[in-house]
Amino acid sequence: MVAFTIDLAADARQWADTADGDRALIYWVLASLMVAEERITTEFSGLVGAHGSEEEATFLATQQVDEARHMQFYARYQDEVVADPAAISAHVNRAREQLSPAFEAIFDGALVQAHEQLIAAPHDLAAKTRFVTIYHLILESALGLTTFNFVTAYLDREQVLPGFVEGYSKIHHDETRHIGYGIWFLRETVRDHPEQGDTVRQTLRDPLPSVAESLAPPEGGSDFDALGVSGGDVRTFALGGLTRRLKLIGVPIESL
Ligand SMILES: [Fe+2]
Ligand SMILES: [Fe+2]
Repeated sequence: MVAFTIDLAADARQWADTADGDRALIYWVLASLMVAEERITTEFSGLVGAHGSEEEATFLATQQVDEARHMQFYARYQDEVVADPAAISAHVNRAREQLSPAFEAIFDGALVQAHEQLIAAPHDLAAKTRFVTIYHLILESALGLTTFNFVTAYLDREQVLPGFVEGYSKIHHDETRHIGYGIWFLRETVRDHPEQGDTVRQTLRDPLPSVAESLAPPEGGSDFDALGVSGGDVRTFALGGLTRRLKLIGVPIESL
C-alpha cells in the first residue's frame, strides 16, 4: 500500500536541514493536507449511502478507501519526517493550529453541514448535488488541484522532499479520478434535472471568498512569494479550472 511503502528517509534528513522560512511554508502545506484528508475521509460516508446505481456505489466505496489511505500517508509523514509518532487525532489537532478561519469555514462549516443534510435525506437530489458541489468541485478541484500544482512545482524546483512529492503525486492521481466522478454526476444531474443547476449555483456562491482566502499561506496574507508565484497566479489557475469544469457540467460561470 502506497501509504506505507514510499521511502521517507531522504525527506527526514532534508527536513532537519531545511531553512526556517521554507520549513514554515512546507509545515503549513502539510498541516492543510493533514486536516483536509481527515475531513474528506470522515465526512464522506453519506455519499456512499446516497448512491444511485451499483456501479456508483462501487466507485464511491473505492473513493472512501483512497481518502483513508491519503490520510494515513500524511499521518505517517508527520510520524517519520516532521514530529514524534502520535495518533492521527494528535497530528490533526496540532495541524489545526496552523489553519485560517477561512479553511475552517469550508472544512468544518460548509462540508460538515452538507454531509449532515445528505445523511438525513439520502434520496434528496438537491442534498446530494450540494454535497458533490462542495466536495468534488470546491475541495478536490478548486482547492486540491491548485495546491498540488503550485506546491509540487516549488518542490521540484527546489529538488527537496522526494518522498513527499512521490506520495502527493500518487494521491493526485486518485484525486483526478474522484473529480471525474464529480463532474460526471453533476453533468448528468443538471442534464436530467435542470433545476439542480440552481443548487450548484447557490452552493458555489457562499464559499468562494473562503476558497480564495484559504489558498493563501497565513504569514504572507494573499502573497505567495515563498512559493515563487503571485496570489494572482494562484487565483487565475483556480478560476480557470473552475470555469472549465462548470462549462462541462452545464452551469457556465457567467450564470453564477
Ligand atoms: Fe484525498
Ligand atoms: Fe479525493
